[in-house]
Amino acid sequence: MANAIEVKDLVKRYGSNTVLDHIDLTIKEGEFVCLLGPSGCGKSTLLRLIAGLDKATEGSIYLNGKDASGLPPAKRDFGIVFQSYALFPNLTAFQNVSYGLKNRKMSRGQINEICARYFEMVGLSDKMDRYPSQLSGGEQQRVALARALVTSPKFLLLDEPLSALDAKVRIKLRREICRIQKELGLTTIMVTHDQDEALTMADRIVVMNKACVVQSGTPQEIYENPATQFAADFIGSINFYEEPDKANEICAIRPENISVSREYSKQGKLANITSAEFRGNFVRLSCKLTNIIKSGELYVDMPLSEMKRLETGQGQKVYLTLPEEHVIRFDKFSKQVKSL
Ligand SMILES: Nc1ncnc2c1ncn2[C@@H]1O[C@H](COP(=O)(O)OP(=O)(O)O)[C@@H](O)[C@H]1O
Ligand SMILES: [Mg+2]
Repeated sequence: MANAIEVKDLVKRYGSNTVLDHIDLTIKEGEFVCLLGPSGCGKSTLLRLIAGLDKATEGSIYLNGKDASGLPPAKRDFGIVFQSYALFPNLTAFQNVSYGLKNRKMSRGQINEICARYFEMVGLSDKMDRYPSQLSGGEQQRVALARALVTSPKFLLLDEPLSALDAKVRIKLRREICRIQKELGLTTIMVTHDQDEALTMADRIVVMNKACVVQSGTPQEIYENPATQFAADFIGSINFYEEPDKANEICAIRPENISVSREYSKQGKLANITSAEFRGNFVRLSCKLTNIIKSGELYVDMPLSEMKRLETGQGQKVYLTLPEEHVIRFDKFSKQVKSL
């Protein structure tokens, strides 16, 4: 696959504040990439620079192999959806969507036909004549998506498009955005601070922190093999602890990778279950240990059925095993130590 978007050594400063610090990023044609990171790390700024809505301090952006750094937004061929619905309140859904086709020499019939196709794609064929105030938040974002797509852009840019919606609607729209993105083969960048969203939607996640890219990889790669402590901590739940004999290392293990037994074993670490939180399909145990320094407490996620089988719970003593193949080790600079 060809490179659709290339960001080369991009720097953005506001006064003395470096908001993007030498970013390199390549996105393949048809790829769905999520920029994931905490609030303020520079995600929206990076998206705005790619869109041409803002100017970089240094570096360049290539679109389809051509330097697009100097191009105005209108020449960059992207559709964009923001968190807030940003629809024109005084226009109907149909007028909002058809607005993008206004300056293209098309007959009314052609415009109606194209708009109808996108309304169908986002599942709103029956609500084209409503005003934004007559639509739910989720429906407004569908209209915004149709508006972004109606000009058949090459790139789709999404800045936290689902953040303002309630959980059920959000999950439904996630699937639909993915379906439409694959159907159209659109190269897509979505900004989010929500790890679940990134894990479920992205072909590739770019983890950002403090103006830098921390790691780029498939959701599974990052989950199983985080490059830094930050990446490990930001995506999924993880326990950090230190072992008594390894002062220069921080160890980490995901709660679902710790196994629990009621019987003594040589490698089992004795622990006391101090709390058991019901989480639906699993239970999160807090376990207090004595033979691991600094930390003392480990989270263990256990399927509900397993918990019933073991007949265990809060206040009980158990033995925890931390399988070596699931332990991730970081050096004192928080970078993963690769075992040979
Ligand atoms: N127009 C601006 N002027 C000055 N600082 C800005 C401007 N836009 C963004 N910033 C700063 O840049 C940093 C990154 O912002 P942003 O890209 O919006 O972060 P994110 O989308 O990851 O939450 C923040 O510290 C923010 O305050
Ligand atoms: Mg943002």
